[in-house]
Amino acid sequence: MTLPQLQELKEIEDKAKTELAAVSDEETLEFWRITYLGRRSRLNLILRGLASLPLEERRQVGAAANRLRSELEELLSQRQAQLREAAVTAVVEGGHLDVTLPGRPLTIGRLHPVTQVLRDILDAFVSMGFQVFEGPEVEWDYYNFEAVRIPKDHPARDMWDTLWVDYVRNEEYPMLLRTHTSPMQIRVMEQMQPPVRIVSPGKCYRHEATDPTHEWMHTQVEGLAVDENISMADLKGTLYEFARRLFGRERRVRFRCDYFPFVEPGADMSIDCPLCDGQGCRACNNSGWIEILGAGMVHPEVLANVGYDAERYTGFAFGLGVERVAMLRHGIEDIRLFYANDLRFLEQF
Ligand code: PHE
Repeated sequence: MTLPQLQELKEIEDKAKTELAAVSDEETLEFWRITYLGRRSRLNLILRGLASLPLEERRQVGAAANRLRSELEELLSQRQAQLREAAVTAVVEGGHLDVTLPGRPLTIGRLHPVTQVLRDILDAFVSMGFQVFEGPEVEWDYYNFEAVRIPKDHPARDMWDTLWVDYVRNEEYPMLLRTHTSPMQIRVMEQMQPPVRIVSPGKCYRHEATDPTHEWMHTQVEGLAVDENISMADLKGTLYEFARRLFGRERRVRFRCDYFPFVEPGADMSIDCPLCDGQGCRACNNSGWIEILGAGMVHPEVLANVGYDAERYTGFAFGLGVERVAMLRHGIEDIRLFYANDLRFLEQF
């Protein structure tokens, strides 16, 4: 005579298979799974009761129950696959899925236009043998002003509207948001001996009333070369080559005297306006020339401030505004657009 458990397994099998045939969605299928394979299913109760059966019964019932369990599991996964496939077919054939529709474009990130131009500028100098150094945006008064020959109460301080940090509480060591990258000349020379050939990019801050050409934050690249026998000719040659690499081989440059306390002599460099080829237009104020940087021969006192022998070494330095270059390159007329975070502007680059 057959064991009652074997009888029950047979019943479970028949019922499970009949019900499975009627299942037509994933929700019902899950219900089916819980009923026949779940923890509290009859099948599971039989499996759990095996331990209390006499050996021979345990062998027979155990084998049958395990076989049924694998069979039901197999049927379950088949049915799952069928249902999924049917669902996809229904969507496609029902016309709800148009496979010819163009996909939704992924939004791709990009580099900020100022970053793009900055990288080109650095590439140009790196390929001429300059190393890149970055420095702090919060700076000591000493590096930003004192060491570059702008002492307290010197009228040259008026050239910069400065944002002080904690000035009142720390009057002895005033701290500020650097107004230019020139403090990096000092920091670099304190760290290394000539020959020095470095460029230092970074943000600078000034307490400005903003307008189309003035922003309270802007990006500069400082350059410094110090060695024996460096002359104004090296300054001019290097910067001329830079202008041609960035703005085209046909560019011409113009140097004029300018004043910066940390250089002597000081100069600024203009390029012939790339927009009108020097004919005169709105961008160049009808002059045909556009000023792009300040430069000069490093003042001997600056060299002395870092302990260099100013009799033996000479050098040149320059500082250029990166936004200015980006504006020229793309014909942008208002510097404030760069940091207004308007995607309609930024996505054009
Ligand atoms: N630091 C100057 C400025 O911000 C630029 C400059 C740098 C000029 C180095 C000469 C030499 O305007």
